[in-house]
Amino acid sequence: MDLADIGVTGLATMGRNLARNLARHGYAVAVHNRTYGRTQQLVKEFGGEGTFVPSEDLAAFVASLKRPRRAIIMVKAGAGTDAVIDQLADLMEPGDMIVDGGNAHFDDTRRREAALRERGLHFVGTGISGGEEGALNGPSIMPGGSKESWEALGPILQDISAKVDGVPCCVHVGPDGAGHFVKMVHNGIEYSDMQLIAESYDLLRQALGATPAELASVFREWNRGELDSYLIEITAEVLDQVDAETGKPFVDVVVDQAEQKGTGRWTVQSALDLGVPVTGIAEATFARALSGHPEQRAAAASLQGPGLSGVGGRELVEDVRQALYASKIVAYAQGFDQMAAASREYGWDLDLGAMATIWRGGCIIRAKFLDRIRAAYDANPALPTLLADPTFAAALDAGQEAWRRVVTTAVQIGVPTPGFSSALAYYDGLRRDRLPAALIQGLRDYFGAHTYRRVDKEGSFHTDWSGDRTEHPA
Ligand SMILES: NC(=O)c1ccc[n+]([C@@H]2O[C@H](COP(=O)([O-])OP(=O)(O)OC[C@H]3O[C@@H](n4cnc5c(N)ncnc54)[C@H](OP(=O)(O)O)[C@@H]3O)[C@@H](O)[C@H]2O)c1
Repeated sequence: MDLADIGVTGLATMGRNLARNLARHGYAVAVHNRTYGRTQQLVKEFGGEGTFVPSEDLAAFVASLKRPRRAIIMVKAGAGTDAVIDQLADLMEPGDMIVDGGNAHFDDTRRREAALRERGLHFVGTGISGGEEGALNGPSIMPGGSKESWEALGPILQDISAKVDGVPCCVHVGPDGAGHFVKMVHNGIEYSDMQLIAESYDLLRQALGATPAELASVFREWNRGELDSYLIEITAEVLDQVDAETGKPFVDVVVDQAEQKGTGRWTVQSALDLGVPVTGIAEATFARALSGHPEQRAAAASLQGPGLSGVGGRELVEDVRQALYASKIVAYAQGFDQMAAASREYGWDLDLGAMATIWRGGCIIRAKFLDRIRAAYDANPALPTLLADPTFAAALDAGQEAWRRVVTTAVQIGVPTPGFSSALAYYDGLRRDRLPAALIQGLRDYFGAHTYRRVDKEGSFHTDWSGDRTEHPA
């Protein structure tokens, strides 16, 4: 029997499509699933697309792979993944590679990588973005793990990934958990992108009384300019959709409670650990959490608002477009800061410009905008913040008046825009020469003798607040 080039275990939506993608690219693919029926179904339905080598159990699956073996796990993230890794590791030999393509937490990936390295195996935590469509036709792929494993896997992963301008949306992200970390931040940014889009829709609908179908046209128009992206494109599609049963706009028949499956929360938790303000992602995550508390919302429904609506004319549309673009720059700047901080903390040596490149196709946040981020890091790889890049700084400057008008309008008519508002507050905070953190330091020294530094000399100081209020070196 000919041995397979690579294997996939876990053949639900994602695994099945990834296996088909590999087979369509000419690789002989070993396939396995805990429940054999799924394996049989794949071969029956799609066997004609390429070479599949089905196995009923994991031992046969491993035996059907060429050495060094390359096995991709696409099972439900969590305990299931650990179980499958353990079984595979027992069947494999030093030099073999286990790829986890599920949505694992990067800390789990670091732990698993270290444990398998001890046994001479390569563990490659790999972020895969693009949902079922991407898995089949070309996802954005973010592999971590060792350089040796990248040499053996990289060409295959690049081959099946999305391509933009002929460039694969897949690079070796960095060691151990780097791939899953970058995928996590990608998802966090996706949260904030969607929140900003939702705020744009909500504000325009409330302020102008526009219908979802009219707003679909607005988003379609926006998609022809600097906001050109997959999410703006599909927003127009969703807003245009009419519910067949009631004839109402689709958005009006959907329960207004958004799920947050974990990666947004993980991104914020990690940002807190790293001390990086990702306010855009945090506000997006909390906005979903707020939507998911119907009992509190019902209890608060009688609270009074400003009693204003129908403010603003057609010019508000252009203002919101500019506010959306400016807030998006901030959200991405924060996400890239988080990756930079993690790179320093974990010694990953991430190439931030390359991360922008691999998100240009295949994944949910794919957008023209990412080319501008790539260009910013090409011009200055040590850029302290994307906001300081001359192109983005000019865009923020050009949009800031509109941005302020939008936040003001939203506040006046009582439409919540936490994404726009927090992004503007971040922009204003970062650009300030003096922040009120000086007062906070004074208060901390007063009640807790936490000491402070001075602007005019080196060292730490404490003021004797309860005594004669003289200052002493700490
Ligand atoms: N759906 C997406 O858009 C998307 C995008 C990116 C990444 N991912 C990630 O990709 C992975 C697969 O996603 P999915 O939606 O295709 O599948 P899923 O619904 O998350 O998981 C179902 C698969 O996991 C297997 N499984 C569950 N527990 C197992 C265990 N203890 N031992 C062995 N196999 C077990 C199931 O086998 P049985 O058939 O035997 O039940 C089935 O093949 C997940 O980690 C997911 O987070 C998903």
